[in-house]
Order: sequence, then structure tokens, then C-alpha cells
Amino acid sequence: MARAAVLHEGTDVLTIEEITSSPLRPREVRVRTKACGLCHSDYHVIDGTLVRPRPHVLGHEAAGVVEEVGSQVTAFAPGDHVVTCLVMGCGDCKQCAQGQPTLCAGAGATKRAEAEPPRQRTASGQPITPFANVGGLTEEIVIDERGLVVIGDDVPMHLAAILGCAVVTGLGAVFNVAQVQPGDTVAVIGCGGVGLNVVQGARIAGASQIIAVDLSAAKLEASYAVGATDLVDGSQVDAVAEVLRLSGGGVDHAFEVIGRPATAQQALAMCANGRTAYVVGVMSDDAEFTVRAEYTKRGKSLRGVQMGSTRPRVDIPRYVEMWRRGQLDLDGMVSRRLPLDEVNDGFRAMAAGEVNRAVVMFDRTEEAP
Ligand code: APR
Ligand code: ZN
Ligand code: ZN
Repeated sequence: MARAAVLHEGTDVLTIEEITSSPLRPREVRVRTKACGLCHSDYHVIDGTLVRPRPHVLGHEAAGVVEEVGSQVTAFAPGDHVVTCLVMGCGDCKQCAQGQPTLCAGAGATKRAEAEPPRQRTASGQPITPFANVGGLTEEIVIDERGLVVIGDDVPMHLAAILGCAVVTGLGAVFNVAQVQPGDTVAVIGCGGVGLNVVQGARIAGASQIIAVDLSAAKLEASYAVGATDLVDGSQVDAVAEVLRLSGGGVDHAFEVIGRPATAQQALAMCANGRTAYVVGVMSDDAEFTVRAEYTKRGKSLRGVQMGSTRPRVDIPRYVEMWRRGQLDLDGMVSRRLPLDEVNDGFRAMAAGEVNRAVVMFDRTEEAP
């Protein structure tokens, strides 16, 4: 039995309850969860933007200690410190062979087949669906080994947790996709857990101007602390006009990191002629937005970004090393630690824009900020 935050049918409140796990399949690993970040993608399931089967265990940005490994697992052993990442390339398809696991065509390979028993059930026996094939908001995660990356024992668990989504998504958008060059100019719309990592990625890449756009003064302040050079409060001014003014006609790279059609349009309006707007935020699958034809004439591009095009086992060890050297700020990203019992308030705080990242801690001694 393990405690978990479960989202049942017909409610937007998670309940804390005991769940059971089934024996490991050959390539699965059982992880004792130590920390799990709350990401806006999880919240999208609560607010209905993403529709997922219930009962559901949210959370996909977790860190913990390996407890048991399946019969075919050789890369992990009990005691290893690991982080989860929802980018689980099957390893066999053409996209995986090309080093693009975010585009993997064999996603089913890392899930249990329909005919198999579910990884976890509620105490009354209902099968639980784990969010993004991870399901991190439980004391015990059962996951395919391809969804794990080993990290050093020196990384505190609350910082390790955010590597698996906020950090790979934000830094990956800058390094792997936009490939921001020294001297480039950047705008970031939405400076939450992911957006702050776009801001600091742009700083590390040597961008000369990093314009942070948000509606929250606290988020703008946090952006400044990790490298933003200019702050635009979209609740006070016309964000597009202000970014065009500050950048002298548009930035080299404009990142949308919220997941809204209107801000994706803003990103395209903010980038300079011939340059690119990147949609990092996740919208519902049927959301649509229009593009001004004029922008195509001016050579602008719109690029979708999925999880920063990360290759987790390449990127996460690099980011840990950047943190060790003091280049990457992880401490500033986690502004609240909370026990599992407070998970609903954690999501409320995230939706209200009160936290950079809130991280659920599973060991009571580690909860204090
Ligand atoms: N203009 C500017 N900023 C906005 C606007 C807006 N119209 N609306 C919301 N924001 C800001 C919020 O104030 C907040 O700081 O966007 C930020 C979103 O941050 P989080 O809620 O922490 O979300 P995060 O976890 O960073 O995820 C952002 O990326 O991975 C995806 O699914 C995820 O779509 C989500 C996006
Ligand atoms: Zn996420
Ligand atoms: Zn694949």
C-alpha cells in the first residue's frame, strides 16, 4: 500500500488515499518517491483542458530512490537516485534512432498492454491511469525503466524533481530547438516553472536582451533574478507593443510558455521579421488560432515545441553538472515545499500564480522550505 493523490470522476479535488501496486513487469522499476513537482500540465487535467481517464494519479516531475527492478532491468539498481521524465522513447523506432524520443512512434512500448493488469489500483480495485505514463503523486511509482534517469546523490530531491519537466522543457526549448546564440534577443511570455527556465536558458546561452512578459509582479521579479533584462507586465501595458518598442522592432526568438492561442499570436507578433515564435505551452488538442498572413510575407516562422526536444539521458546529466558549477539556478525555481496532504492547495497556488514551482515532499523532515 502507498499513499497517493487520486483524481476521481466528477470532481476537481484530489483525494489522499491508499493504493496498491501489482508485481513489476520485466522492464519496470519501483521507485520510492521523495519529491514531485506540480506542473501546469497536471493542472490541465484538473481544469479539463486535457481529458484523461479517471481515477487518475497526476504528477510527472518526480525524484526518488529505486526500490526494486524488473527481471530485465540492468541500468538501475536499488538505492539509485533517479528522476522521472515523461519522454520515454521506445528506443526502437526511426525517431528514437535519430535521437528524437519526443517524437517516438512507439509510445505503447513503455505502457502496460490493455490485457495486462494495471500497474496500480485504488483500494476498492479500480484501475488507476498514471498521468503521462508516470503518475508521480504517490509514495510509490511503478514506471518503465525508459522513463528514468540516474542522478548523483548530491542533488537534493526537491531540486532533482523539477529536472524531469520544468527544466528539460525550458532549457531544451532554448538549447535544442531555438539554439539561441550569444547576442540574440529573446522574449518569454509566461514566466512560471517552465518559462523561468526559458529565461535562464537564454541567459546561459548569452542572449543580450531577455524580455520577460507575465501578468504577475512576483513572476517578473523571479525572472529578473534568473537573468531577464527587461520586464513587461501584461496586465498593465500592451505586451506586444512594449516588446516591439524595447527590442527595436521585434526579438530574434519569442517563446510562448503558457498554452493559450492568444499568447501564441502575441509571440508571433513579437518576433522580428524572418525570425521565429515557439509555442512551448500546451493547449487542448482542438484549440485553434489564426496567423496574420502579413507575417508569412515577412518571413516569420511558428514552431511547435514538445518537451524541449529533450533526450533525457543526455540533457539531465548536463543540467545537473551546470547546477553543480553554479550556472543553473534550481533553488530559485522551487518556492514552496508541501506535504502530499496539501496537494490541492499547491495546485490552487500554482493556478493563482503564487509559486514559481511548488514541490510535494514525501518525507516529512524535508518539507520545510
Ligand atoms: N500573459 C502573460 N503571462 C501569463 C498570461 C498572459 N495572458 N496568462 C498566464 N500567464 C502567466 C502566469 O502568471 C504564470 O506565471 O503564465 C505563467 C504560467 O506558469 P505556470 O502556471 O507555472 O505553468 P508552467 O508549469 O510553467 O507551464 C506552462 O508549459 O509545459 C507547459 O502544460 C504546460 O501549458 C503549460 C505551460
Ligand atoms: Zn510538466
Ligand atoms: Zn521510439
